[in-house]
Amino acid sequence: AHPGKACGAGTCEARGSDSHTGEGGELSPVQQAFIDAGAVQCGFCTPGLVVAADELLERTPSPSDADIREALSGNLCRCTGYEKILDAVRLAAARQEGTV
Ligand code: FES
Repeated sequence: AHPGKACGAGTCEARGSDSHTGEGGELSPVQQAFIDAGAVQCGFCTPGLVVAADELLERTPSPSDADIREALSGNLCRCTGYEKILDAVRLAAARQEGTV
């Protein structure tokens, strides 16, 4: 399901122990994708969404929209209407796959 995926390009490290950062000031790939996609507005929901997205991408490197919606369904975002969040997760998935 994810051709061309290589662990030589920092992918494994990026998804290791600091993939849930927040403490060191370094953004995880998922956090960065949320920002780049404009999926962070007030930021209230963002930590929970980032963790949920991160877990999703570990299980499912190329999630469908339905996968993304389901993974995020426990997190309410009252600002973005979720479309941008879907974009952000798709962007993170594409980056992880090396297709962007
Ligand atoms: Fe405000 Fe999601 S960005 S609740």
